[in-house]
Amino acid sequence: MTRKITIASQKGGVGKTAVTINLAYSLRRLGKKVLIVDGDPQGGVATACRLKNLNSKGLVQVLNGEQSLVDVIVPLDGDDLAVIGTGIAAPEDIVFFEEQALARKLGPLFEGDLSAYDFVLFDAPVGVGAVTRELFSISDSFIQVLNCRAGTVITLAKLLNLYIWIRNNFNPELKIEGILFNMLNSSSVIENKIVKQLKSRLPAKLFFDTSIPFADVFEVASIKALPLEKLKAGHRVARDFMTLAVEVDTRKHQFVGDLLVGDDSDFTPMAEAQDEDSSRATLQHRDDIKDALQELCESGGFYGAVVADEMGFPLADYHSPIGVDALATCSSLLGEALVKAGSIIEMSEVNNLIMDINGEDKLVLHRFSMLEEGYVLVAVCPQDVDAIGEIGLAAARIVNSLS
Ligand SMILES: Nc1ncnc2c1ncn2[C@@H]1O[C@H](COP(=O)(O)OP(=O)(O)OP(=O)(O)O)[C@@H](O)[C@H]1O
Ligand SMILES: [Mg+2]
Repeated sequence: MTRKITIASQKGGVGKTAVTINLAYSLRRLGKKVLIVDGDPQGGVATACRLKNLNSKGLVQVLNGEQSLVDVIVPLDGDDLAVIGTGIAAPEDIVFFEEQALARKLGPLFEGDLSAYDFVLFDAPVGVGAVTRELFSISDSFIQVLNCRAGTVITLAKLLNLYIWIRNNFNPELKIEGILFNMLNSSSVIENKIVKQLKSRLPAKLFFDTSIPFADVFEVASIKALPLEKLKAGHRVARDFMTLAVEVDTRKHQFVGDLLVGDDSDFTPMAEAQDEDSSRATLQHRDDIKDALQELCESGGFYGAVVADEMGFPLADYHSPIGVDALATCSSLLGEALVKAGSIIEMSEVNNLIMDINGEDKLVLHRFSMLEEGYVLVAVCPQDVDAIGEIGLAAARIVNSLS
């Protein structure tokens, strides 16, 4: 049976196109027949496969009735690998392509018989627009490509929200194939920490075991418009793509994403995630933390407060002063900034940041350790409150009550 997989990300330049192409070549090596579809109006696949030299017709010509889908399939390096380009040649084609996606005309092109292929891989454009929605609507599953940079959590949150929305409204069968870390620098302390934390906060089966390292050879491959397996210097990373291809081939969606679905709230999977790390705060702990935050607000003069881990995953809140998305960005950015600042001025602890909000109120961010992990307590209060003293006491109370 043909498996249709969209390769997507909320953030640009994370390696979707590179992953699509190299995964396609690796699946082919496993003996699979693979069709790559360029779903990006920027035409990343077309460039990477030198498609313009082979055939300039593509989805645009199918959408305007000039060609049939079969006619725009271009064999790529043998019979078992083929590609469909966007067929975009002029700026008006981009507008037409996006309008067609908006009118829900793109997805149905792929509802016909594609049984000649074991896999159809769609390279999605960046973000969560109409084209991505169309690709998700006709895919069996998607691969989320992620880099381990500050702000990672917020991009993950947005794409997972889109996933839930698509399942609820367009394609109840859509599964998450997996989250793939690309451009990973395994010697970076921060990147390793982000991977570890994300894996401990979300269901482990959401992640591929394989990750793709950062490697200069990708640039050479881009310039030469070749897959990594065709470059001697690319063989090591091509092996990683083989491992990934085996994972994709054998996963067969057993893990599904149902853990994330069926909940009305916008983005609860992090808080609900099953926790295999016994050192982390339990639900009982969360109640204790919430009590401490309530006390901080009621007796310390704060409007609201929240405790989150360093990735921005909230643990407990009282009249939360800040949204999950904002918190994730804020704490991961600040986390990185604090680590850098700490190393620059040789201070092990840089803490207690105060931000003016509107001239009258301020936001205070206090970092503390609990159960051997770093956390942040963020609270909002009037300018004249002794925020640092109170927030330090609240954090100490939380740590004491849990130890
Ligand atoms: N693992 C990696 N190590 C180093 N460079 C990489 C890696 N993966 C991709 N790249 C390079 O990063 C750049 C962006 O990759 P790519 O075009 O595949 O990203 P994308 O997510 O498809 O971007 P867009 O959002 O614009 O479609 C390219 O120059 C590519 O060669
Ligand atoms: Mg791309």
